[in-house]
Amino acid sequence: MTPLLQIQGLVKAYHDRAVLAGVDLDVNEHEVVVLIGASGSGKSTLLRCVDLLEDIDDGRILLNGRDISDPRINAEVARQAVGMVFQSFNLFPHMTALGNVALAPRVVHGNSRRDAELRARELLARVGLESHANSYPDKLSGGQQQRVAIARALAYEPKLLLLDEITSALDPELVGEVLTLVGELAASGATIVMATHEMAFARDVADRVCFLDGGQIVESGSAAAVLDSPREERTKQFLKRFTSGR
Ligand SMILES: Nc1ncnc2c1ncn2[C@@H]1O[C@H](COP(=O)(O)OP(=O)(O)OP(=O)(O)O)[C@@H](O)[C@H]1O
Ligand SMILES: [Mg+2]
Repeated sequence: MTPLLQIQGLVKAYHDRAVLAGVDLDVNEHEVVVLIGASGSGKSTLLRCVDLLEDIDDGRILLNGRDISDPRINAEVARQAVGMVFQSFNLFPHMTALGNVALAPRVVHGNSRRDAELRARELLARVGLESHANSYPDKLSGGQQQRVAIARALAYEPKLLLLDEITSALDPELVGEVLTLVGELAASGATIVMATHEMAFARDVADRVCFLDGGQIVESGSAAAVLDSPREERTKQFLKRFTSGR
């Protein structure tokens, strides 16, 4: 079976400095891959490249066997198969929760306003926010806003979900509700690549953990293998620093 996502020899440089220095990663359908690594190791850049938000300098990114990094393809269309959620929720402040989520079904899928709103209500129910459909983002907690952002990403019916530190801007007591939702999406068969510092969560949901350092995947394997018995010195150092309070 062809992996859903294939990243091959990916190189991304800023001002002649390689931030991604040859990344290879295959992600199968229904797989949950968690990216860990120190600040600046390249996690966000990797996710942004897959979401075609960055031009890449070398290598290829294939989705369902199709090269989406080919500059000749229509990036806007290719990106519709990928849903990305960011640390800062990036909701449209002038739209209600419902409006934010209904946008994709209307604009991308060409649904009528009524159908788009029905679909958006289903998605808000899925993230536990049915009763907040008419709230504007500034009247929602951080955790609620992030759940709306996840519902909005799901509205694109993505084949692949990219989650970039989606809990790191949240107050500690709100982290749980967002991670619970991600766990539910994983359990329902979503394919997820997620950068996070939540090691306990990685241990629970990750099929695979990849440790990045210096723009490369230094070590990858099951959560137990990478987090409990890392083989590489750099992974050991990172985890040691991490557990001793970063
Ligand atoms: N637009 C940019 N221009 C120049 N350098 C950049 C740009 N974006 C990222 N970088 C650099 O690329 C490197 C990797 O950044 P990236 O944001 O991918 O790291 P990260 O692993 O996500 O870190 P964090 O854990 O802090 O989110 C960093 O050294 C960063 O300074
Ligand atoms: Mg980052």
